[in-house]
Parts: sequence; C-alpha cells; structure tokens
Amino acid sequence: MPAPAPGGRAGGPPPGGSDGAAVLELRGVTAGYGPGREPAVRGIDLAVPRRGHTAVVGPSGAGKTTLLSLVLRFLEPQEGELALDGRPYRELSHPAIRSRLAYVEQDTPVVPGTIRDNLLFSSPDAGEEDLRRVLRDVRLAEKVDSLDDGLDTELSSTAVSGGERQRIALARALLREPDVLLLDEATAQLDALTEAAVHECIRTRARAGAVVTIAHRLSTVIDADTIVVMESGRIRARGTHEELLAADVLYRDLVEALRIASAGSGAAAPAGHAAAPATVAAPGAPQRTG
Ligand SMILES: Nc1ncnc2c1ncn2[C@@H]1O[C@H](COP(=O)(O)OP(=O)(O)O)[C@@H](O)[C@H]1O
Ligand SMILES: [Mg+2]
Repeated sequence: MPAPAPGGRAGGPPPGGSDGAAVLELRGVTAGYGPGREPAVRGIDLAVPRRGHTAVVGPSGAGKTTLLSLVLRFLEPQEGELALDGRPYRELSHPAIRSRLAYVEQDTPVVPGTIRDNLLFSSPDAGEEDLRRVLRDVRLAEKVDSLDDGLDTELSSTAVSGGERQRIALARALLREPDVLLLDEATAQLDALTEAAVHECIRTRARAGAVVTIAHRLSTVIDADTIVVMESGRIRARGTHEELLAADVLYRDLVEALRIASAGSGAAAPAGHAAAPATVAAPGAPQRTG
C-alpha cells in the first residue's frame, strides 16, 4: 500500500493507527487443523481495540485456544484474514507480528534456569530496574528479595511455588510492554495472592494496551470491557457482562458454572459486582469451560 505523503496527514492517525482503530482484527476467519476435519473456528469477525480488556469465554472445544493460535500465527486461516494495525498478516513476517504480542500460556510456562533467565528470556536487554518493576507488578518483589540468591534462584527450586511461577511467566510478558497481551488463564486453582496479582495486572495493562484473555475466572470475565462468547467455533454473542446476562442464555450458564467453581475458593467476584448476577437460576448441568 502507498506510504502517506510526508507532512500530508497532519491531524490524521499516527503511523501505528489511531486510538479509535483496532490494533488487531480478524475478518471472516475460518480455520482448522488439516484437511478432512471440520473447521475449529468459522467466520470469526473480531476487532480488538488498542486499549482495554477483551475476554473470550465459551465451553470446552468452542475454539478459544484456536483463536489465540491464529493471532499468534501458529495457525493460518483457511478463509478470511487477520490484521495488525490494519495491515494484513500476509504482509508481515512472523517476527514482526510476535514482537507486538506477548502470550502467557496456561499452567506455568517457564524455561529452565533462574528467575532472571526466565524474565530475560524474551527481553534480553531489560535492565535491573525493569526487572524490579515487573516483579512489583506481579507482587513478587518482596519474595525475590527474601530468597538467598534473589533473582538468581533456580526456578525449579522448591522455594518457588506454582503460583509464583505463574506470576513470573506474567512478569516476563509484561516486561515486553506488548501492544497485545494474550493470556490463557490457568484452569487450576491458584493461591489468592496470585489470583489477585494476575487480576490487577490485567487491569493495569488494559489501560496502556490491549489485553485478550481466555477467561476461566468469574472475576476476570466480569472485569472485561468486552466479553466474546464462543460456541462450536463461532462467536455467538458479545457485549458487557450486564448486556450478556440479559441477552445470552449460554453466557448465563457459563457465569453460573464459574460461580460454582469459584464458590468457597476465596476467589469470588469483586465486591462491586457481586450483586449483579445473583438472581441467575442455576442451570441443570453446569457447562465445563476449557
Ligand atoms: N491440535 C489440534 N488438532 C486437531 N484438532 C484440534 C487441535 N486443537 C484443537 N482442536 C479442535 O478444535 C476445536 C476447538 O478447540 P480449542 O480451540 O482448543 O477450543 P477451546 O480452547 O475453546 O477449548 C475442538 O473441536 C478441538 O477438538
Ligand atoms: Mg483452550
């Protein structure tokens, strides 16, 4: 596409796109895992705003992970296209795309080595102060200070819990200050401090950039600016928590299942939202989410 004339776009959007434009777009995307198989997602249209939190929910097998795989370009669409800042993926290299994204996978995705190695894994040039900042963000600064070897503690050490490893994975992603943070929330029960730290990091990051979560926790879902409900490879509804509670029966069932899952774990919805869906009737069989 032609480059804009120098100086000819005063007042127009900056090169990276304007605040109003989507940072990431899927346009009519259909994709799957090989010939002879049913597509895993079909006709997906989704615009992810430059700032804010988009949460994807849906029963197991709905296509949520496939959606993230497409965004990360682990998978190519069979139909339709993706775009970053309005530029189609086919015009961009894999590194150009990945440099703008950070992905926090489910379940403790860490590399062998020390805490420092893990943080620097995808940001080798980060300075000590940057490391401190992200450790504070995920509420691990004091913990790391308390370790004899500090940042040079082996991550395999029993001194580092599963929840702390999860937070290190998140700290690594935050260190890159990604335009789009993609987070597949852990399905496993995490300790309360880890849950709170992850929750707060999503909020903070969503003020500066785009956050897309595959949400497995009610508190994460309720907090999102936009919730996308997937079922059988399609987006069946989208909106805010209140809008979807009023409009979408599957969403109501999913929320109820998450509510049951979080009951008694100490990880209930934030107080400000607690009253909103309280009148929802329990479905016969709670939907599994995965
Ligand atoms: N690697 C794969 N190979 C073949 N089929 C897959 C693969 N990953 C996912 N699928 C299929 O694609 C569909 C969507 O799966 P997925 O995106 O993982 O859903 P979700 O994350 O919502 O549980 C399912 O039917 C699943 O069986
Ligand atoms: Mg999944």
